[in-house]
Amino acid sequence: MAFRVLLLCAVLFCVASSHDSPERAFALSTTEGSRAEEDLTGEAVVEDELDPEDQQVFHPTHEWQVVRPGQAVPAGLHVRLNLQSGINEARLPDTEATAQKRVKQEHRLGLDPSLYTPQGLKRALAKLKEDMNADAPEEKTRKEDLKQRFRPIEELKQEFERLHMNIESDFQIMARLIKILNSSTSTVEQKSAALYDLEYYVHQVDNAQDLLPLGGLQLVVNGLNSTEPLLRERSAFVLGSALSSNPRVQVKAMEGGALQKLLVILATEQPLPVKKKALFALSSMLRQFPYAQQQFLRLGGLDVLKGLSRERGAQTLSVRVVTLLYDLMVEKQILLDDGKYNELGSEKIQQYSQVDLAEAIQDQGWCTLISDLLGVPDHDHREKVLQTLNVLLSTCREPFRTNGQLNTTLDILRKEYEDLVKEEKNDGDDDGYFKELHNLVIDFTEGLR
Ligand SMILES: *[C@@H]1O[C@H](CO)[C@@H](O)[C@H](O)[C@H]1NC(C)=O
Ligand SMILES: *[C@@H]1O[C@H](CO)[C@@H](O)[C@H](O)[C@H]1NC(C)=O
Ligand SMILES: *[C@@H]1O[C@H](CO)[C@@H](O)[C@H](O)[C@H]1NC(C)=O
Repeated sequence: MAFRVLLLCAVLFCVASSHDSPERAFALSTTEGSRAEEDLTGEAVVEDELDPEDQQVFHPTHEWQVVRPGQAVPAGLHVRLNLQSGINEARLPDTEATAQKRVKQEHRLGLDPSLYTPQGLKRALAKLKEDMNADAPEEKTRKEDLKQRFRPIEELKQEFERLHMNIESDFQIMARLIKILNSSTSTVEQKSAALYDLEYYVHQVDNAQDLLPLGGLQLVVNGLNSTEPLLRERSAFVLGSALSSNPRVQVKAMEGGALQKLLVILATEQPLPVKKKALFALSSMLRQFPYAQQQFLRLGGLDVLKGLSRERGAQTLSVRVVTLLYDLMVEKQILLDDGKYNELGSEKIQQYSQVDLAEAIQDQGWCTLISDLLGVPDHDHREKVLQTLNVLLSTCREPFRTNGQLNTTLDILRKEYEDLVKEEKNDGDDDGYFKELHNLVIDFTEGLR
């Protein structure tokens, strides 16, 4: 019984804490070696496992849902460790309305909201003690017997205190991890484990912003030119996750010299996993941040990315580069389209007008480079390349039209997808994936005429 009460207390306390500060969920301190075990076992394997673009993505709702190991958690969610089950859960942040609904639900379930405070818990513990003392005489002997067998309440309280001590806020956990990173006595293993854990926390927008007062962002940026490849890789991973959809962190990382360091990694001889993570960080840095895009072009970033297609194992990298260029072109287009109706966007429009990605793409031979990529075997990759080619139609019309190889490839793809669409139809799917790909090929071919 004592054990069950303890667990209940822990859960209630957890709820209490996050109730006090709704912006920050709480978690138990991670024990040494739990996730760190995987660290040095096989870089390439672990790399792919961790890669957010390869991972299955967690689909959040307003209810807590279990986050399975290896699932990528989108930024901006509330994440908690369920003390009862020991597993991580995440959900969308509450709006005012859903928060009220949740409190009502919990009330209905008999969870008294006043219990959610430390005072409430203390009262509950005191009442428990009273109940144990106020027993009817005939019950006394049995209770005495029980008392012998179960730990007295004081012991339980101590246990609770101890447990309480172990509950750290995300902020405290991050401060601890950053201290490990900053310590000259930490080993490479300790630092890489700290970076791995840190990456988990900075998915949350608030946590990523907490990196700034903690001084952690600059440490991570400095890690990009560590002499240890694993630390460079992990630093880039943390940075990429912290930067995702987080303008404040983007600005600070830019000021801290992250862009130059990432370009150095991408332009020099490096293990493939380091390059992959650096490309991930670069993408997070550039998205929705026209100033960084401008600097990227100025520093010859497009040339650096072009160099990546000469790498060993370059195909995945190349497709990711194309994805990045596609996203940047589309985000600018969307902003310009919206901007016609939206005065507020005008400063951003001003900034984007100085980012002439399309022109740079045409000048530097990307039209041919990208169309050559259409020969990749993977359907998803082809889809990305086809979408990009469609976006580049006006910019690259001439190079595309005179490219005999592209013409041949389009012919082959059209036939291949015609067959696959037939199979799809036989299986009862009239509007399937291959139909979509087939349409992309047709649209592009017709657009070229
Ligand atoms: C790192 O350590 C140095 C010297 O020990 C200290 O001055 C600095 O404030 C620390 N930085 C962080 C972010 O903790
Ligand atoms: C990383 O770069 C910074 C600034 O460019 C430099 O001060 C530092 O010594 C470099 N670290 C290593 C390990 O090369
Ligand atoms: C492209 O292929 C079509 C036949 O599929 C052919 O008629 C056309 O001349 C080709 N164009 C180029 C530029 O090779």
